[in-house]
Amino acid sequence: MDLHPALEPLAPLVGTWEGAGEGEYPTIKNFDYIEEISFTNIGKPFLEYRQRTWNAENALMHVETGYLRVPAPDTVEFVLALPTGQVELCEGRLEVAKDEIRLFLEGRILNTSTAKQVDATSRSYALLGDALKTSFDMAAVNHPLQRHLTSNLSRAEQSSERITSVP
Ligand code: HEM
Repeated sequence: MDLHPALEPLAPLVGTWEGAGEGEYPTIKNFDYIEEISFTNIGKPFLEYRQRTWNAENALMHVETGYLRVPAPDTVEFVLALPTGQVELCEGRLEVAKDEIRLFLEGRILNTSTAKQVDATSRSYALLGDALKTSFDMAAVNHPLQRHLTSNLSRAEQSSERITSVP
């Protein structure tokens, strides 16, 4: 299926990526995770996005889904739904250079009334050659914007059907 012309700069990002990540926040213990994300072309002027994470015992951790939009050549929008009770509406810039694609996004958050309070987020995705590096900062539970997640991913042949166990 042809990629919509607006998505041409993001063509190298399309596919499935997997690797390891680390999590931190002042209120919790540091943790490691395994991550798989996919950006899928469905012929529309946006990419479908899915993320899943697992711990070392293969138990599912955080998951999220959404859409990556490119309304202008240097502008990206990321619309995300999180099962922890947030919707995240990110906007930012797209930088494309030889062998380098970088996305920098700031997120506005809506929390359900029972969710842990997240006030703002900041995401970055850097595709450097064959390596996709991601970072996620958040202002949450009364703490200012700071790092929660960092991951280093590489291209996967196809989406894994990982067996998950109940933690
Ligand atoms: C790779 C994806 C992620 C993983 C593996 C992950 C993992 C974790 C873990 C293990 C904790 C500590 C245990 C807990 O309180 O449940 C935690 C806490 C938290 N995470 Fe994440 N998380 C991820 C993404 C996110 C995202 C995208 C957000 C917000 C939009 C978020 C917001 C929070 C909040 C608000 C807390 C609670 C901190 C507290 O209670 O002090 N996380 N996360």
